[in-house]
Amino acid sequence: MYLKNGQASLWWQEAAIYQIYPRSFQDLNGDGEGDLPGVISRLSYLKELGVDAIWLSPFYTSPNKDGGYDVSNPRDVDPRFGDMSDAVSLIEEAHKVGLRVIVDIVPNHFSTEHIWFKAALDSEPGSKERARFHFFDGRGEDGAIPPNNWCSIFGGPAWSRVTDSDGQPGQWYLHLFDSTQADLNWTNEEVHKDFEETLRFWLDKGVDGFRIDVAHGLVKDEILQDHRDPEGLTRALRLDVSDMPREQRESLLSDVPFFDRDGVHEIYRNWRKIFDSYPGDRMSVAEAWVHPSSRATLYVRPDELHQIFNFDFLIAEWDAKFLANAVEKTLQEVAAVSAPPTWVLSNHDSPRLVSRMGGGELGEKKARAIALLTHALPGGVYVFQGEELGLPDAPLSDADRQDPVFFRTKGVDKGRDGARVPLPWNSEQNNFGFTSGKPWLPIPANWIDKSVEAQKMLNEENRLSFLRLYQKSLQLRKLFADSNFNWLIRSNEVIGFSRGSEYAIYSNTSGEELQVSLPETFDSFEVMICSAPQEQLGRSGEGTLQLPPHSTTWVKRLK
Ligand code: BGC
Repeated sequence: MYLKNGQASLWWQEAAIYQIYPRSFQDLNGDGEGDLPGVISRLSYLKELGVDAIWLSPFYTSPNKDGGYDVSNPRDVDPRFGDMSDAVSLIEEAHKVGLRVIVDIVPNHFSTEHIWFKAALDSEPGSKERARFHFFDGRGEDGAIPPNNWCSIFGGPAWSRVTDSDGQPGQWYLHLFDSTQADLNWTNEEVHKDFEETLRFWLDKGVDGFRIDVAHGLVKDEILQDHRDPEGLTRALRLDVSDMPREQRESLLSDVPFFDRDGVHEIYRNWRKIFDSYPGDRMSVAEAWVHPSSRATLYVRPDELHQIFNFDFLIAEWDAKFLANAVEKTLQEVAAVSAPPTWVLSNHDSPRLVSRMGGGELGEKKARAIALLTHALPGGVYVFQGEELGLPDAPLSDADRQDPVFFRTKGVDKGRDGARVPLPWNSEQNNFGFTSGKPWLPIPANWIDKSVEAQKMLNEENRLSFLRLYQKSLQLRKLFADSNFNWLIRSNEVIGFSRGSEYAIYSNTSGEELQVSLPETFDSFEVMICSAPQEQLGRSGEGTLQLPPHSTTWVKRLK
């Protein structure tokens, strides 16, 4: 599939891409926060894991009010992560070991520490400095009412008022996220030029692609009109909808004045020309939550971006029907624009997979099974650091929390820090080989068993640790990259599909052991990998396959 002029697929189309959250990956200078030299020191680990590329969350100059997604200079490296020579070495060293490098780009907003925003504060209303952002006068006699009633996705209002040089309250600026992240005005030509320069800057440094933050947010409509239900809309956008009627949610999400406006595509058509002007198959992946999900395909039309994250599995239940529907829908949608699908089980914004699957032993079982199912699907797969170790969300005290979501919701939403705790590399107490100092978020003491070192030691054929399971499946999936996908079974408890004529994959989402009949051509087969410890692993069978409770099994046809 996805053959381009009869050539095999491009590197990113079937790639496993590992998301590094640099602050929590590996610290080498002992300040308790990960850094770029730390990433370089672990490239061999990533190579051994079997991924094809790394995506680095932002490491640019930033006051770090939102984990670096508040960028104050997108063309420099924040000292906490190293310097430009470290970034260049990282790209070079990764390439030497055969790993591609994707970096984040954050075009929806700049930090309020960016020189542009500082210049806007020093300039008059109506100035060209203010025109790069969304500055407006307030409503009411003294301008004390924000220009509209939109809410920030992180909680609270989406507008903040500045103080003028004479100490008097002045205009308001829009921020869909934290008040330190001022939304950029994409009707302004200077904004386009500046981002094109940033793209070229990193392309010239050799990056292989970009992950585009809030890619659906750049164009805003009806900016001076109130929304009919701003709080409901924010809840719907944050998936905080357990008590919201489905119809209300659908109606709110289907028309968001600041997300997924048609005008956004023109920007990506221009960016695509830039990517294509560089040698070596540079790519881009959009972070765009759109509704209905079929609109996602608009971002990956042939003259736009290359991939868009498919978030269906980020919120998936361990349920055969749900999963089969999500797979079918995704494959159909992307086929219409000839783009490859992507699969995401976790990232730095969502609960960790094991916790989302309910936590504990059962949560781990389900997480292993859904991971093995995901790794067998056609297209690209994204793995968030620590997912391969089966880490759960770390319990944190409120005093440790740093996510602006926690502060802006006044603690109602605990935020995303639990998924951002540094990785445990070995059994050294307190710092787990992550740092020689004090980790910026505490690593739970009971993660010793989950460390990379501990999981490497657990290496019996029948009891694969999380890490060994990921290593093995990420290697084995290469066997059927580019092979056709066909359903074999879709029942209430079991999903089965084949990849090419030689491989079959089955998931049992029930708590009972079940038996399935394999297609005739699989009369004789061998189990390649199973998410549950099982006796027949590696053995051959005939015609039928036992599926342990909450498991995924891959089999290979024997002659
Ligand atoms: C990033 C978040 C960030 C937000 C604002 C996203 O979707 O993934 O981590 O807080 O954009 O930049």
